[in-house]
Amino acid sequence: MKGLAFFVFGVVACFFQTVLAVKKCGHNDGFRPFRFCQLGDIQIGFGLDGWQNDTYRMHLAAQQVNAQDFDFCIAVGDLTNDRFSYEIQAFQDTFPEFEPEIHLLPGNHDISDVATLKQFSVDYNVSDHSAFSHNGYRFIMLNSITLISNLTEFQDYTHAEWRWFEKELESAAKHREEIIVSHHHLPFEFTEDEPDSYWTFPNRVRGKYLELIKKYDVRHILVGHRHETKNIYATDNSFTIYVVAGTARFFDTNGFGINYFDVSSCDSATGVSQEYVHLQGVTHMKRSLGLPNGCPDIFAH
Ligand SMILES: *[C@@H]1O[C@H](CO)[C@@H](O)[C@H](O)[C@H]1NC(C)=O
Ligand SMILES: *[C@@H]1O[C@H](CO)[C@@H](O)[C@H](O)[C@H]1NC(C)=O
Ligand SMILES: *[C@@H]1O[C@H](CO)[C@@H](O)[C@H](O)[C@H]1NC(C)=O
Repeated sequence: MKGLAFFVFGVVACFFQTVLAVKKCGHNDGFRPFRFCQLGDIQIGFGLDGWQNDTYRMHLAAQQVNAQDFDFCIAVGDLTNDRFSYEIQAFQDTFPEFEPEIHLLPGNHDISDVATLKQFSVDYNVSDHSAFSHNGYRFIMLNSITLISNLTEFQDYTHAEWRWFEKELESAAKHREEIIVSHHHLPFEFTEDEPDSYWTFPNRVRGKYLELIKKYDVRHILVGHRHETKNIYATDNSFTIYVVAGTARFFDTNGFGINYFDVSSCDSATGVSQEYVHLQGVTHMKRSLGLPNGCPDIFAH
C-alpha cells in the first residue's frame, strides 16, 4: 500500500515536473542563463559638452560593454539629437566598437514623421520595430513613436504596429517564451492612471498597452527618453519599468551609466535581476539643469 502511494506520488511529481518544464522554457530554444545590457539615450549632439564628448562617452560605453560577457545589448532610442549628418556619421563610426550585438531602437529624435521613419532604417540598417528569441525569452522591441502618435501620416504604420505587437505577444505565449518588451517612451512615470505628459504614453493608448502587458505576463520593460535612471513599478508590482539616462545628458543625480541584466531562470518573474553600473572613465559628470526644449513633436494638435 505504501509502495503504491509512493509510486502514485512519483508519477504525479514527474507529471508536474514535465508540465512545468514545458510551460516555462520555450519549445525550441530551451533555457540557458544569459546576460544582456540596456544602453540609454546615446543621443549624440545632446550633451552639454558637445557632440564629440557624447561620441567619446559612446566609445567608453563600448569598452565597458566589451569587458562584460553580455550576449547582447538593447539601446533604447534617441541615437542622435538632430539627425545631423556629422552626428549620424559619428554614431556609425563608433558603433562597430561594440563587440556583442547591439539592438537599436528609435526615439523621438530619430523618428518624428514618415520620412524620418524610412530614413531610420537607411541610417542604421535596422527595422524600426522587431523581435527576437533568446534562450527561451522573446524580446519585443517597439517603435514607441508610431505606436503612441496620432499623426495622420502615421496612421497606417500605427495600426500595423499594434497588430504586429499583439501577434508577437501571442506567438511568444504560444511558444511558451517569457517576454521582455523595450521601447523609447515611458508607459507611465509614477502611477498607471496619471495624466499625459511629454515623457509618457498618452492615456489614449496607455490602457490598451497595459492590458496587453498584463494579459501576457510581461514582467520587464526597458525604456529611455527620461534622462533619469530609476525603476518604476506596476500598481500590483507585476512588472518593472527600467529607465536609464544614457550617455549624453542626465537630469537626476545618477550620472551616466548602463543597466546590466542577469537572467538565471526561465521564470521571468523571479529569474531576472538588474544592476545599474556607472559609465567608467568619465572625468566630468555634471548634472544637466533644466529640461529639454525644442524636441520633435509626435502628436497632432
Ligand atoms: C569633453 O571631453 C574632454 C575629454 O574627455 C574634456 O577634456 C573636456 O573638458 C570635455 N568638454 C567639456 C566642455 O566638458
Ligand atoms: C545590413 O544588415 C544586414 C543583416 O542584417 C547585413 O548583412 C548587411 O551587411 C548590413 N549592411 C550594412 C551596410 O551594414
Ligand atoms: C493627439 O494626441 C495628443 C496627445 O495624446 C492629444 O493631446 C491631441 O488632442 C490629439 N490630437 C488629435 C487631433 O487627435
